[in-house]
Formats: sequence, C-alpha cells, structure tokens
Amino acid sequence: MSTLTLHDVRKRYGSFEAIKGVDLEVADREFVVFVGPSGCGKSTLLRMIAGLEGITGGEIRIDGARVNEIGPADRGLAMVFQSYALYPHMTVAENMAFALKLAGLSRTEREAKVRAAGEVLQLGALLERRPRELSGGQRQRVAIGRAIVRDPKIFLFDEPLSNLDAALRVQMRLELMRLHERLAATMIYVTHDQTEAMTMADKIVVLSAGRIEQVGSPLDLYHHPKNLFVAGFIGSPKMNTLSARVVSNERSGIRLAVAGGVELDVPVEGASVKPGETVTFGIRPEHLSLDDSGELAGRTLVAERLGNVTVLYVDLAEGGTVVVQVDGNDPTPAHAPVRLRVHAAAGHVFRADGEALPRIERHPLA
Ligand SMILES: Nc1ncnc2c1ncn2[C@@H]1O[C@H](COP(=O)(O)OP(=O)(O)OP(=O)(O)O)[C@@H](O)[C@H]1O
Ligand SMILES: [Mg+2]
Repeated sequence: MSTLTLHDVRKRYGSFEAIKGVDLEVADREFVVFVGPSGCGKSTLLRMIAGLEGITGGEIRIDGARVNEIGPADRGLAMVFQSYALYPHMTVAENMAFALKLAGLSRTEREAKVRAAGEVLQLGALLERRPRELSGGQRQRVAIGRAIVRDPKIFLFDEPLSNLDAALRVQMRLELMRLHERLAATMIYVTHDQTEAMTMADKIVVLSAGRIEQVGSPLDLYHHPKNLFVAGFIGSPKMNTLSARVVSNERSGIRLAVAGGVELDVPVEGASVKPGETVTFGIRPEHLSLDDSGELAGRTLVAERLGNVTVLYVDLAEGGTVVVQVDGNDPTPAHAPVRLRVHAAAGHVFRADGEALPRIERHPLA
C-alpha cells in the first residue's frame, strides 16, 4: 500500500508564493502525471513530496502518516531526474547498487536486486559498461534502475524523457507504462508535454501558477475541461475559441450567436448565464469540417499535411483564425475559399471568468 495525500501544501520563496495551496489524493498503484507550463511549480511540488524542498505550509502524508518532518532518505521514495546524474567512473551495476551499499545491504543482496532490475529494464547485457558507453535511452534506464532497486513506496519522475529524441521518448513512454504495470507501484510523473500526460496517466493534475486547475482522467480533461486554461492546454492542435453571445437558454442547452450572427445550439447547462451575455465558444479542430453548406465562411491560410490527418488553418470571414482537422487525403490547398460546418453538439462554452458551463451529457468514456 502506498498512498499520498497533500493537504493545503504551500511553498514560498521570499515574497513569491510558488505553490499556493495544493490538495491532492494519490491512490495506491496510481500513475499520476503533473502537467503544466514552464514555471507553474511542477518540480517544486515533486521535490516537496520527496523531501528535497522544505514546505512553507500544509501537510504531506504517505500511507496516512505525516512526513513533513521526515528527511528525504527516510520517506521511502525514489526520484528520477531529467539529467540522469550517473556516476561516470562506475559501471551500470555499480551505479544501480550504490545506494544499496550505503544502506548496508550485503553483496549477495545487492547483486540479486541489480540483476532483477536489469532484467526488467533489459539492461542485463550492459551491467559491466560505464555510462559513456551507453545511449541516452540506456542511461535513462540505468537511472530508473537505480530507483527500482530501492523498492520505493512511490516513484517520482521529473521530466525523465525530455533529453531523448522523439522516437526514443515514445519507446521509453511505453516501457515506463509496462514497468508501472509490472511493479504495481505508485508513480508520480512530471512533464510539460500534454501528449505524455494524456498517454501515460491514470490521473492528470493540471497545474498553473502554483495552483491545481483540474484533476481527472485524460478523457475527462479532454471532454470536460473545467475552464479555458485546461481546454487550451489539453489537446493538440488546441481547441478553437470564438467570442459568442448568449441568445437563449433552454433545458436542452443554450443557443449562441458567433461570427456575425451564426446561431449554434450547444448542450451545456446555461443556468449561470443570461441572454445577451458575452461568452466564449470552444470547439476542437476535429469538430469542424469542410462542407459547402457549412455555417462559417473563410479562407485557408496553411495546410499542414501529417499523412494520417491534414490540419487546415482557416481565416474566418468575420475575423479570427480556426484550426480544422480533416482527412489526410483531403486535397484542399492553402489560400482556398472554404465553408466550415460546426458540430456544435461537441462544443464547449466558457463564461467571461473562464469557467466552463457543465455539459448536459457526460462523455461515455470520460
Ligand atoms: N529556489 C528558488 N528560489 C526562488 N524561486 C524559485 C526557486 N525554485 C523555483 N522557483 C520559482 O518557482 C516557480 C516554480 O518553479 P518550478 O521549477 O517548480 O517550475 P516547473 O513547473 O518545474 O517548470 P519547468 O517546466 O520549467 O521545469 C518558478 O516561477 C520558479 O522561478
Ligand atoms: Mg521543472
């Protein structure tokens, strides 16, 4: 059993509050990802959990017991950093065994643990090499191996894959997910990459400026973002936003007017907005399509051909640019006049304060 509870956790550097009161529950065996833009406090929060950074306020509990006053070595956690920080003069096996040696384990115990970790990470054939004789991905695996041999209650990862090239990142992502399953361990993983968060997490924690914006499963955040920040951060290409006016409020949703009077029905709860109010309409690129009888008129600016899909940037006649995801074989060129159909049933509405109006029906997978 390895659970983690944060209660009103705060961190202040002088007059700057880097973490502004974070409450979070991490369940046993959960894979939790902290995601957010650079400087939002992800590393600070992780280091506070690890005990590498003092906390200014609040409480951290591991398996129910308060650890605020317990040092990093005695919290039973292991952290893997972006820089692998391997000892260059030691072999792979020695690097992995080093902490165990300090902890006073016998040679036989150390060898058994290193062998087991080497097997899990497919480092078996490399145990006698030194770090400089390894590829980046292999070095990162050694760094992870160093964490595994310690048998921690919780694994903490701070952007461990960001030094790797794109293909290796995808491969290591899969390996980490398999490792999570195999070790049945609780893991907390920090990244600024929303794709990494979406693909790996059981639960994503979106942070911005020292606060939690939303906690949820990947699809929950994708389909039910609580505010404009989360809507814009999760999903690539980004959700489109258009200024809109509330026309009327019905039980089945609200009617909006966008782009010079085009009316759209969106199935969200409109109790907190009034007709005439200005709101933001949000629609993902895959919920716009090319259609000669579509509601919006525009002109394509750029066509990005990714093979499986094509991404069109369209300047709207009424102002603003939207991103439209179409089939990879779609022949529409740049600088062509187009009309767009808006699949408003999949749309989102945000009040002036940025908060989303709740959707009337939950997404079946979220
Ligand atoms: N020792 C420190 N003294 C003062 N301010 C600090 C200190 N460490 C971090 N900060 C500030 O706290 C904020 C959060 O930093 P943190 O390193 O946690 O960000 P991050 O989300 O991990 O960003 P990145 O994605 O760039 O790694 C930043 O504004 C940073 O400048
Ligand atoms: Mg960081």
